Amino acid sequence: MKIVVIGGTGLIGSRVVKQLREQGHEAIAASPSSGVNTVTGEGVAAVLKGAAVVVDVTNAPSWEDAAVMAFFKASTSNLLAGEAAAGVKHHVALSVVGTDRLLESGYFRAKIAQENLIKSSSVPYSIVRATQFFEFVKGIADLSTTDNKIRLPAALIQPMAADDVAAAVARVAAGPPVNGIVEVGGPEQFGLDDLVRRFVAARHDPREVISDPQAPYYGIKVSERALVPEASAALGKERFDEWLAHH
Ligand SMILES: NC(=O)c1ccc[n+]([C@@H]2O[C@H](COP(=O)([O-])OP(=O)(O)OC[C@H]3O[C@@H](n4cnc5c(N)ncnc54)[C@H](OP(=O)(O)O)[C@@H]3O)[C@@H](O)[C@H]2O)c1
Repeated sequence: MKIVVIGGTGLIGSRVVKQLREQGHEAIAASPSSGVNTVTGEGVAAVLKGAAVVVDVTNAPSWEDAAVMAFFKASTSNLLAGEAAAGVKHHVALSVVGTDRLLESGYFRAKIAQENLIKSSSVPYSIVRATQFFEFVKGIADLSTTDNKIRLPAALIQPMAADDVAAAVARVAAGPPVNGIVEVGGPEQFGLDDLVRRFVAARHDPREVISDPQAPYYGIKVSERALVPEASAALGKERFDEWLAHH
């Protein structure tokens, strides 16, 4: 199958392209660096010609409220219009577990807008909601740091390796559209504070992690289970300690 991966140069996209090619598919990595810009529409019609499936693993360059909303609305609308015109049979998008519970954040309001555009389009679809990537834990630590101290609540998180996220996206892309949401998560749950404590210890990072029930996660208050998937979620294989040991 010809499968176009929009955002195919990114953290997840590059891994999805590699895995789909290993499975024998014609996977095309598309992004602004290869002349395909889903916000302006440049190059979209040409790259979609003959595609059976489109995987959208783009991310916005700015996460400022208005900018991220404008990005996901324009990118998703242009892409879905191009897919309808090209006769694409399956649109697969990567979203985040708990998106509907995190709407105090402008980023998640933009992800819900993306999901809603997909649900109301004529193109059959699958939305893969993944938990936070292990690769994202450093970003959580940095954003929660003030005066060399990291403050985080003990809310639960079930993170996963980017390779496992990509495997789930590739598996869904190679199958039939579910016209719904598929959840994927990591093999273990941690408190957010404990996860970041393990990360800084493994990196010999001198920052102290302080457990603080009032501390925000990425600027918003999260409830205890807001970030964890349903029990039915497919689980990635790689454990955080294994990942820490070889990254
Ligand atoms: N971070 C997490 O823990 C997490 C958890 C679950 C789900 N997600 C979701 O995972 C998705 C992918 O994240 P990621 O970390 O893999 O992203 P990433 O590494 O930042 O890659 C973003 C990709 O989007 C492309 N892109 C940017 N602007 C574009 C445009 N105008 N037109 C076409 N392509 C464009 C980039 O292309 P260039 O390289 O050419 O700039 C790049 O290939 C996001 O939608 C995010 O919401 C993230």
